[in-house]
Amino acid sequence: MFGRGSQDGLLEEVARPRQRVAELETERARDLRLDSLTGLLSPRAFRGRLSEEVERARRYRRALSMAIIALADFAALELRHGFRAVDELLGAVARRIAGTTRAHDLIGRIGHAEFGLLLPDTAGQAALPALERLLVELEVVGEGAIRAAGASMGVAALSRGMGPETLLASARLALARAQGVGGGRAVLAAGAEHLAEPAATPQHDAIEALAVALLERDRYTGEHSEAVIEMSGAAARNLGCSGAEVDRVRSAALLHDIGKVAIPDDILHKPGPLTDSEWRLMKEHPVIGERILRVLPGLGTVARIVRHEHEHWDGGGYPDGLAGEAIPLGSRIIIAADTYHAITSDRPYRAAKPHDVAVEELTRCAGSQFDPKVTAALIGHLYGRRQMGALRV
Ligand SMILES: [Fe+2]
Ligand SMILES: [Fe+2]
Repeated sequence: MFGRGSQDGLLEEVARPRQRVAELETERARDLRLDSLTGLLSPRAFRGRLSEEVERARRYRRALSMAIIALADFAALELRHGFRAVDELLGAVARRIAGTTRAHDLIGRIGHAEFGLLLPDTAGQAALPALERLLVELEVVGEGAIRAAGASMGVAALSRGMGPETLLASARLALARAQGVGGGRAVLAAGAEHLAEPAATPQHDAIEALAVALLERDRYTGEHSEAVIEMSGAAARNLGCSGAEVDRVRSAALLHDIGKVAIPDDILHKPGPLTDSEWRLMKEHPVIGERILRVLPGLGTVARIVRHEHEHWDGGGYPDGLAGEAIPLGSRIIIAADTYHAITSDRPYRAAKPHDVAVEELTRCAGSQFDPKVTAALIGHLYGRRQMGALRV
């Protein structure tokens, strides 16, 4: 009935709304992560990154500092110049903070005239000179006719036993002290001794110990697991999982390859392709991983996710050949995030491929290797993350 041309037209009609839906979803994901006025991380996204950075710093015993920057007399500026002018000033302040900090520092707008700054690999005292310079910059920043009236800053360094909430509270107390002595200065928190410390659960300690063991055994696998955590957690959140579920998926992502501690070195580090018998051994790692984790009380669900992290949506994976929703959701998320990271990483036998190639592969195998819903959630997150990267936050 239809000529080829009109059939193409019909296909286009169907594809266009679908493409628009995908675009809208990407925009929505970005809106949730970015503050629309400044392009910096939104308060929620900043808190998410704070938790991740605290976890990473604790696991690898790295330094981490955070600062809260509060602009002075902001309400008075608003009354005098109006909201629109002051919005422009906030944009200028955001650009100045972004331009004065390092590329890997994370910046969020966490209150009306308040910014959060995360400084990885930086101890509190070492952060101070750069932060003092930033304060001087903020005294002269302006937009149109108005000038900012300067700022105050509270700085805190992560110390033993601190969690994200304690670090944030510590920076906030230091900010109050800076404002209390007249403002226009940076005050470093004395320490966290006086703050309530959230007790780490025994499972948490065990998970960390295992992660360190894996990193010691095989640096690539350890770092690969680290990268997979962030993507898996974000995909789980995009799929509407509860906070506790997201935590479980993140723990499973960190430990998904823990079974590789039992794989002999010459197989684990072999630069070329594996023989059939070597493959058989390598494919044991999810089952070994499950066995290790089952020993730890409270990690049963995580152990189950790890066992099935190589199952395929169409039933073609291992170890049990499960298909569809019979595979735990966490496992379906991890296999997709794992594939993206493996494609975009350098390996001894091949160079890293670009983001677009990895996304193409995820899309091509949605419905066969991967759960299509999971693929969409993960790709949504990856686009949002790249847009944030383009904005340098
Ligand atoms: Fe694996
Ligand atoms: Fe993996």
